Amino acid sequence: MRKPLIAGNWKMFKTRQEAKEFLTELKPLCNDTSREVLLCVPFTALETAKKAVRGSKIKIGAQNMSWADEGAFTGDISAAMLLDIGVDYVIIGHSERRAMFGDTNQTVNNKLKQAIKNGLKPIVCVGETDAEKEAGKTQEVLYKQIIDGFDGLTEEEAAGTIVAYEPIWAIGTGKTATPELANNEIKFIRNKLGKRFSDKCANKIRILYGGSVKAANFASFMAMSDIDGGLVGGASLKAKEFAGIINYEK
Ligand code: G3P
Repeated sequence: MRKPLIAGNWKMFKTRQEAKEFLTELKPLCNDTSREVLLCVPFTALETAKKAVRGSKIKIGAQNMSWADEGAFTGDISAAMLLDIGVDYVIIGHSERRAMFGDTNQTVNNKLKQAIKNGLKPIVCVGETDAEKEAGKTQEVLYKQIIDGFDGLTEEEAAGTIVAYEPIWAIGTGKTATPELANNEIKFIRNKLGKRFSDKCANKIRILYGGSVKAANFASFMAMSDIDGGLVGGASLKAKEFAGIINYEK
């Protein structure tokens, strides 16, 4: 079965010192090796975070990367630069990168292939806006994000890719999706991945839920049939709250 993954996404929060203090507090609170723990931190805190998690099972990820190997891409960060620091994972196509920084299904596909080529474990974010949900277009949007985002991947490459379903209307709003709704959309995503690749492949793909996850509600998501973990924003900024999510009661 798929190993649960609890990933934090700090977005644009925490200096290196704050990252060090957070991880010193978190490390003794998460020892259950049956669950994978990942923190996606700002570029500037990556090296400090990698050092701070030494001796623990906590993995460190980036929140974005370039689709290019290197070149005149001012302000961008390459896979090689992330690997140089020892980064394990990278978030690709977060809704905030799509909405504010121009990421599209095509750039997501380019970045996904670049991450795979360089051995970085990718987490591809998909999700619908409130307007798309209200217009009944959720699955049309999710289908296009998945099919275009995964274009050109082999079954093996797809099987190693993590997907995060993050309904945009639930991000940072406190308006969490119900576990049943999240599970329904994640089952839809898995079904479409099964048709595009194979059921065997789709059943290997871990699909996370993100959108106002808290320690108080996370166990209800993990009780669902198709949800393999969480991508946590605000609640990952406080060590005790994030530990409460990591240590959810089965
Ligand atoms: O990537 C995770 C993030 O988008 C969810 O944010 O604050 O709703 O947990 P939040």
